[in-house]
Amino acid sequence: MASPLTINPFDAALGAEVTGLDLSNRLADETVTAIQAAWDQHLVLLFRDQAISDDDLVAFSRRFGDLDEPAVNPQGKPYHPDQPYINVISNLTANGVPLGNLGDGEAVWHADMTYRENPPKGAILHGLTVPPAGGATYFANMFAAYDALDADDKALIANKVAIHDGAHNSAGMLRKGYAEQTDVRNTPGARHPLVWRDGDRKALFLGRRPHSYILDMTVADSDALLDRLWARATQDQFMVRHEWRAGDVLMWENLRVLHKRDAFDPASQRVMHRTQISGDPAA
Ligand code: SIN
Repeated sequence: MASPLTINPFDAALGAEVTGLDLSNRLADETVTAIQAAWDQHLVLLFRDQAISDDDLVAFSRRFGDLDEPAVNPQGKPYHPDQPYINVISNLTANGVPLGNLGDGEAVWHADMTYRENPPKGAILHGLTVPPAGGATYFANMFAAYDALDADDKALIANKVAIHDGAHNSAGMLRKGYAEQTDVRNTPGARHPLVWRDGDRKALFLGRRPHSYILDMTVADSDALLDRLWARATQDQFMVRHEWRAGDVLMWENLRVLHKRDAFDPASQRVMHRTQISGDPAA
């Protein structure tokens, strides 16, 4: 039977909307194969109007690989009481205690958990409650950003390796169990090449800018090169902006895409549930 889905690419450097699917159903294998192919091609996929439970979100996510448990958060214990594979992204609090990650502030450009040796391959975010304004999420295509570098910068970064900070989340909060470091050369976290090879293609692999450091350079030279690469990688031409509606499900590729989030009015509510697909240990 023909798969019911259609793929409508965004008018941008990445992203597509997938229509015709109800993600609360178990999808046929050929539909999952078609989604995977669209994901590989477009890097970010949007499914609108999905009334799905947490179990549905986990079941859908597992069709694309094993799942990671959420990273250690500033509270030091998981935000979801029943579902170990769901991370809660929210500004809600109870008695002053956060009920989710990231609060209402900006989350800076980043890829998820690249401070691990084997970072996750993707994430899936379900918008449950969205603010009337603000809190948009942006994605940037790191294949396109690499391709647009000039030849000198491509040669300069060809064999360079950077430290990816594991001590802070993307809202700049210190994770439980870490201490602040004043010297970026001591930043805790995995070391990865600045250029990620994917078959014949190459992508910039930057992780997150704060506390990053390129090995075997002076701190000043590392900072200058990182600042230049980040300024180029996050230009509008490589980016798409997503304004949330309740019921949206967004899945993004984590190793060739950066994402960030706008701040929003603290008086409004934003609740998102998120899964994370484990990286390929052979990658
Ligand atoms: C995230 O960085 O995983 C959260 C993005 C968002 O809150 O839109």
